[in-house]
Amino acid sequence: MRIDTIRLINFRCWTEYTLLLTKRFTLLIGENGTGKTAILDSIAIATGSFLLGIPNLRPNEKRHITRDDERYSTLIMGQTPIKETQYQTMVRAEGHINSIPVNWARYKDIRTNQQDAKEIISIVKNLIKEITNPKTILPAIAYYGTGRLWKQLKATEKKTKGPTSRLDGYQDCLNPASDQKRFFIWFKTQEIAALQKKEQRHTLEVVREAIIKMIPNAKNAFWDLDWDELMIETEIQDIPQQIPFHLLSDGYRNMIGMVADIAYRMATLNPQLEADVIKQTEGIVLIDEIDLHLHPQWQREVVDRLLKTFPKVQFVATSHSPFIIQSLYGRDDVLLWDLEEGAPVPIESERLSPLPMSYFSFPIISCGAGAVKLFRACLIVFTTFCEINQGAGRSRLTFGNPCHNNPTILPGKHP
Ligand SMILES: Nc1ncnc2c1ncn2[C@@H]1O[C@H](COP(=O)(O)OP(=O)(O)O)[C@@H](O)[C@H]1O
Ligand SMILES: [Mg+2]
Repeated sequence: MRIDTIRLINFRCWTEYTLLLTKRFTLLIGENGTGKTAILDSIAIATGSFLLGIPNLRPNEKRHITRDDERYSTLIMGQTPIKETQYQTMVRAEGHINSIPVNWARYKDIRTNQQDAKEIISIVKNLIKEITNPKTILPAIAYYGTGRLWKQLKATEKKTKGPTSRLDGYQDCLNPASDQKRFFIWFKTQEIAALQKKEQRHTLEVVREAIIKMIPNAKNAFWDLDWDELMIETEIQDIPQQIPFHLLSDGYRNMIGMVADIAYRMATLNPQLEADVIKQTEGIVLIDEIDLHLHPQWQREVVDRLLKTFPKVQFVATSHSPFIIQSLYGRDDVLLWDLEEGAPVPIESERLSPLPMSYFSFPIISCGAGAVKLFRACLIVFTTFCEINQGAGRSRLTFGNPCHNNPTILPGKHP
């Protein structure tokens, strides 16, 4: 599944907006409050149309347009402030499901909500009829908002789980604040079953491999039965260490949680693909503020690592970070979309100079959120200062409105 075009009418802060998405990675950039999260939510609503055809999901898991999504205007009439909703809110999408071109729309009104989504619903229902056929490949769908939490499981939640439906891979997939509970239960079950049956489980091994590939310095990821917790084995300056998940820094937990969740959903949706499940499963993954909690050096690698780990997934992400934006330069499989311009930004590398990041090491173990935030803020101020001095380009756009009005800082529309 993929989305090529998305069109909004009266959605949150947008009166009318059309956005093109690329097959692999689209990065939405813009100042705070320009509507990046709104666009990502609208893509979640469009993607949620696929879930309309899936039985046994709770209604709120399918992501409809809500009252909060309807655009309102505020004005003063006489001396009274007025808030008026602008009708009608619509999200329209064009895309492909298993290479079949399809377009569909969602509305707020309950009567019209699904009328323009009949085609996509019928495609999904036909897929579901063939769910026991190994040839049926289900796309993965996931949304990670800024409220994503990768916390430790309570002792009572550390269960194992018997056989489940393939469709469980869609549970809560569009909840931007979902946690990693399902992944942990799946991973623990798989590890114990593999040990007991003395067999290698292909899907478990590829999920493990996906985690290791995404995490710098990671050598292994396994469920430790003594700790009853996911354990990450790393090697720092040639010294091997095993660190329990809950002691990892926010950046590590955030990234492991996200990658593990995508990989586990793929393994649940398409277990018949075995060792190829991650390479062969298509899907749409939405990530708000992809740089959240990530060390700057890691920010520069994250897009490349995601694209290599999940070669058939379409990613749409938002970011403020110049490190993320810089990391796209020279790539032909990404689209950098400036929300304020309403157009793609040409990706050129020659005006960007490398940032002096190499001598900072990764914080692996959490050392207090305050200290990390302070460190990160200093780092960003420092590197921005370096960039400005070196005449770097577009990436500074994300650092606040004052830059917009200062021609010496932000040269031209397309640097
Ligand atoms: N229903 C709505 N109607 C009009 N404006 C809205 C609505 N909901 C949110 N907004 C406004 O949309 C703007 C964009 O918000 P958001 O998408 O969170 O921006 P970003 O993610 O770029 O920081 C905010 O200023 C917010 O007040
Ligand atoms: Mg936002």
